[in-house]
Amino acid sequence: MSSDDEPAWQRQYGPWAVIAGGSEGVGAEFALLLARAGINLVLIARKPGPLRGTAERCREFGGQVRELAVDLTDPAGVAQIIAATTDLEVGLLIYNAGANTHSAEFLDGDLRAFQQVIDLNVTTPLQLIHHFAGPMRARRRGGVLLAGSLTGYQGSARHSVYGGVKAFTRIYAEGLWLELRDHNVHVLELVLGVTRTPAMQRVGLNFDIPGMPVSDPADVAREGLARLPHGPVHVVSAHADNPALRATPDRAEAVLASHRMMQKLLGGAPTRDSDAPPIG
Ligand SMILES: NC(=O)c1ccc[n+]([C@@H]2O[C@H](COP(=O)([O-])OP(=O)(O)OC[C@H]3O[C@@H](n4cnc5c(N)ncnc54)[C@H](OP(=O)(O)O)[C@@H]3O)[C@@H](O)[C@H]2O)c1
Repeated sequence: MSSDDEPAWQRQYGPWAVIAGGSEGVGAEFALLLARAGINLVLIARKPGPLRGTAERCREFGGQVRELAVDLTDPAGVAQIIAATTDLEVGLLIYNAGANTHSAEFLDGDLRAFQQVIDLNVTTPLQLIHHFAGPMRARRRGGVLLAGSLTGYQGSARHSVYGGVKAFTRIYAEGLWLELRDHNVHVLELVLGVTRTPAMQRVGLNFDIPGMPVSDPADVAREGLARLPHGPVHVVSAHADNPALRATPDRAEAVLASHRMMQKLLGGAPTRDSDAPPIG
């Protein structure tokens, strides 16, 4: 992005943007780019500390920033977000939160914990998009950006539900893009590969597998905003060669090859360990 883009962003996505998962990693980088472009922000995350830190960095650009400490898997969360934004004209919704929170083989896992993965990635974003994108369509300007994952292109052990929800959002984004393109509301599913975010650093992903690309959150956010007018789906360029993106008729071979790579990524954790760390 160059500073030349900033007035166009304000016209298309201002005056307020809501970022769900806007305190850390790619979400925080989106926030900083938009703040620099003069767009006011509503930042949502659970932990007040990082939320405050990112909000303060964004305020240095002179705009307004609201901090909302809300759990996006809480059934009351959407109502809290709506109540805290009723007086705002929201022109951009970025739904970044969504890393896997329950990495278990399906039959050994906890259904309530899987439900939280579904709520974080499907139930809540759909409710927020329904609320915020209706007025965007009426105004004939705006944007919706969803964070997707390569995991949504191919099944993987301990990520059956997570891969499923990421596949859902990609197909959903394509449909929404079709429905909103004639109304000048941009829709993009930004597909991330392995990215060095604080969440993934905390779970101890092995970022050092030879030949495996690892993205930087600031690069991902820049690329995401640049691609937002050109939906419906964009795979972050560092990961464009990922074999998961090439549909092959032999799905068993494709899934097993990806499974072997995933084992390396998780640091050789045994396949059937239902307590393996979550992964983006
Ligand atoms: N990092 C990767 O390697 C990778 C790879 C593929 C796809 N992705 C996708 O990229 C997105 C960002 O991933 P990430 O690695 O940065 O981890 P993440 O935990 O999904 O996102 C971090 C942001 O979301 C907030 N958040 C997470 N859960 C929340 C909840 N229940 N309620 C409210 N806020 C919540 C975090 O703050 P709090 O923790 O304070 O709530 C933080 O601001 C996700 O959608 C993920 O699926 C990431």
